[in-house]
Amino acid sequence: MLGEIANLPVARTAQALRAQVRSWRMEGLRVALTPTMGALHDGHLTLLDVARGPGRADKVAASIFVNPTQFAAGEDFDTYPRDEARDAAMLAASGCDLLYAPSPDQMYPDGFATEVRVTGLTDLLCGAARPGHFDGVALVVSKLLIQAEADVAVFGEKDWQQLAVIRRLAWDLDIPTDILGAPVLREADGLAMSSRNRYLSQPQRAVAPVLHRRLRLAASEIIGGADPTAACAAAASGLLADGFESVDYLEARTADSLALIETAPPPTQSRLFAAARLGRARLIDNVPIEAEAASKAL
Ligand code: PAJ
Repeated sequence: MLGEIANLPVARTAQALRAQVRSWRMEGLRVALTPTMGALHDGHLTLLDVARGPGRADKVAASIFVNPTQFAAGEDFDTYPRDEARDAAMLAASGCDLLYAPSPDQMYPDGFATEVRVTGLTDLLCGAARPGHFDGVALVVSKLLIQAEADVAVFGEKDWQQLAVIRRLAWDLDIPTDILGAPVLREADGLAMSSRNRYLSQPQRAVAPVLHRRLRLAASEIIGGADPTAACAAAASGLLADGFESVDYLEARTADSLALIETAPPPTQSRLFAAARLGRARLIDNVPIEAEAASKAL
């Protein structure tokens, strides 16, 4: 049974979601799932654009679920922005075909006892800074992929490590959904769009784009032959001087296996990854270490 909000059909249960997806597939249509936690911005909507790319999907289902298992105690689960009516209107306006918005009880009924953990990839970067976070992501994304039975699912490259973890789990668990990445959508000044940017005060918002700028600069230095460890350390000190309160990490790693790069020259397909705190917000970003990115930084 589907409901409706802002003229958008809504499934509140996994059964309703799966029934709709199955009926589309019976008609020969390909279906995409774009999982989110709501508080939507244009970056989320690029997931829908990627989903509708040639040969990908005819119908797009977006999910909104603020997943309690991926927030640690003391993180912003309770205060995470929730506005389903606004989100549904944005999705409807961008041509979304179905909203899946289950309740926490639907996702995690009494007695729920299963864990999903991707080892290795989750020990570093955000996994080291937020212990248990990726276990919650892996659990909820496994459930969403199994519930939807979609042909493709799209996740943003802004959360590069999350995308790597999801590709790994889909492969390891034989989930027959193609996992696609969507490029990072940025504000005009380079700040990666994020639901948490709304935590920034005006002065903090003015400082925030230097995260991207310092990553680009460090990438250009590494391309120019600088030692990756030294370039990363300089960029991290720069962020603190710019007004960031702390830097969780700023590291050069390979794009797929996320292996640390400590010596020059970096292998092809390398990226710089950073997470840093500014007021209430913890901002993350990543850029490729490649000649094109380097020239734009200067
Ligand atoms: P959320 O932070 O709402 O992000 C949902 C999806 O949008 C993720 O795949 C994220 O990478 C992508 N996204 C966010 N900002 C983006 C931007 N500026 N450009 C491109 N894509 C962007 O990530 C989550 O939710 C959750 O962990 C989830 C995967 C839904 C599991 O709960």
